[in-house]
Amino acid sequence: MDFSGQTVFITGGGGRIAPVVGRRFAEAGAAVALFDIDGARVEAAAHGLPGRAAAFAGDVASEADVAAAVAGCEARLGPIDVLVNAAGIFPNTPLLEMDPEEWDRVFDVNVRGMMLCCKAVASRLVARGAPGAIVNFSSGAGSSARAGSAHYCGSKAAVNLLTHVLAIELGPHGIRVNAVAPGLVTDTPLRRGDPHPSRYMEMMVEATPMRRTGVAEDVAGAVLFLASGDSPWTTGAILEVSGGSHCGRPHVPLSRDLR
Ligand SMILES: NC(=O)c1ccc[n+]([C@@H]2O[C@H](COP(=O)([O-])OP(=O)(O)OC[C@H]3O[C@@H](n4cnc5c(N)ncnc54)[C@H](O)[C@@H]3O)[C@@H](O)[C@H]2O)c1
Repeated sequence: MDFSGQTVFITGGGGRIAPVVGRRFAEAGAAVALFDIDGARVEAAAHGLPGRAAAFAGDVASEADVAAAVAGCEARLGPIDVLVNAAGIFPNTPLLEMDPEEWDRVFDVNVRGMMLCCKAVASRLVARGAPGAIVNFSSGAGSSARAGSAHYCGSKAAVNLLTHVLAIELGPHGIRVNAVAPGLVTDTPLRRGDPHPSRYMEMMVEATPMRRTGVAEDVAGAVLFLASGDSPWTTGAILEVSGGSHCGRPHVPLSRDLR
């Protein structure tokens, strides 16, 4: 995949997954802007990228911060062709302990922030009459419930429908809008049979058909595909990148063995 001459703007750029996505775009020839609320981490991540790169600090839920970062990116690296919305927060709190402010913050960052970035970048693409691609970070949590994640699951379900709506609205302008829905991503792959740091991790690996957790590279490959000319007719897709962990009930054995 070749992104020479293109500019890619990535939110959540100081996190676990987005810097690897940025490196893969940079290796494919793109100029890469990373945007994150954590100024020190996003500076360090941009510093580690090959080629032309820039870091911007700000809050995706702030319209002013998003406008400043998008304008700054265009001034330094050129007009944006690809937007990757990876910023997200994922607290885990059961309903009976839920602080409504935590609920609001999850939706502010994961949904409002994504909408603001999509609007800022898409409006510029439409004004230029240029095609483009947007890749949103959803999650398996957007379609499969788990305890403690009422706000997170709800926010990622909203991301899925936001992706579908924007695919409809922006397709006529030549802008494709897709999402990746990762399963559990860890810094190094945790495999079946490895000593696991917790019973939770052990259960997660057991419930993953590929019998390991994901790593950022797994997700980055899917993001680049969805942003690239190799998927010119793909829009409104929610691509599961999960080792099969959201296929249904992968941990349940053959029912004939239960007799
Ligand atoms: N790691 C996983 O297992 C996993 C699984 C499914 C989906 N995801 C999704 O993938 C995306 C990236 O996850 P990650 O594992 O790299 O998480 P991470 O916490 O390592 O990175 C997220 C980044 O977003 C930034 N951020 C948070 N709030 C922000 C705000 N208001 N404005 C700007 N930046 C903000 C954080 O500072 C952080 O650098 C998230 O959207 C997450 O929901 C992750």
